[in-house]
Amino acid sequence: MRIGVLGAGNMADALATQWARKGHEVRIGARAPEKAVALAGRVGHGARGGTLRDAAEFGDAVLLAVAHEGVADALSQAGPLAGRVLLDCTNPMEPPFERLKTVGGPSAARRIADLTGARVVKAFNTCPDTVWRMAPPEFGGRPLGVPLCGDDPDALAVARRLVADIGCVPMDGGGLARAGLLEATTAFLVGLWVAGEDPLTMLPPADAAMARAPQRTSEPVA
Ligand SMILES: NC(=O)c1ccc[n+]([C@@H]2O[C@H](COP(=O)([O-])OP(=O)(O)OC[C@H]3O[C@@H](n4cnc5c(N)ncnc54)[C@H](OP(=O)(O)O)[C@@H]3O)[C@@H](O)[C@H]2O)c1
Repeated sequence: MRIGVLGAGNMADALATQWARKGHEVRIGARAPEKAVALAGRVGHGARGGTLRDAAEFGDAVLLAVAHEGVADALSQAGPLAGRVLLDCTNPMEPPFERLKTVGGPSAARRIADLTGARVVKAFNTCPDTVWRMAPPEFGGRPLGVPLCGDDPDALAVARRLVADIGCVPMDGGGLARAGLLEATTAFLVGLWVAGEDPLTMLPPADAAMARAPQRTSEPVA
């Protein structure tokens, strides 16, 4: 698959590296194209760097990996994205994680969808880049689940493939209407991690919570 990556920071680095290693064609774009070129050099496997527009035009799938404050600016530099598959990993949060930067308004993912007309899937926002760099992100023999929120079946299928390609398990997080909950959940989780808590301990096994075994997270990727 051809993947465009908007941004040349930590998330771009982590995910571009994984996908390039897996054989995908990766084009990284940044507002300072030299940063994208430098990152592409570190990623290797034929990855190339350039402008935000280069990366946006290149990808069958496009990952948006810029700071929340830079999203509107980056998207305007990226050019038209209507109808395209756009994976949004942005998190509109900051310490002390008491409220989202989007408080009182639509989710970051919804704003991105409204700004671009793209087929947006919220994905990869739940864990730090250090986890996305693991090959594979697996804990105690269990691969990491990656919740996806989106409305377009084809875009979700692309996202599921790219989740599976980094050794993770795609989870059905529902439509884009639920992306705000995922953004808020992540902010709450990060607050717990920062406070030195282990949020894993607050989650009972799914069969205890729902009196039935989980199914969807182990479904094979189409
Ligand atoms: N790092 C994590 O652990 C993690 C985990 C999950 C989700 N996220 C989310 O993923 C996104 C990227 O995080 P990151 O850690 O990769 O951040 P980062 O390392 O700080 O990189 C941020 C990127 O955003 C670009 N950017 C900032 N303002 C911009 C603007 N106005 N126009 C164009 N580009 C702009 C930066 O470009 P310059 O280099 O030119 O400044 C840089 O490429 C954020 O929304 C973050 O909340 C991060």
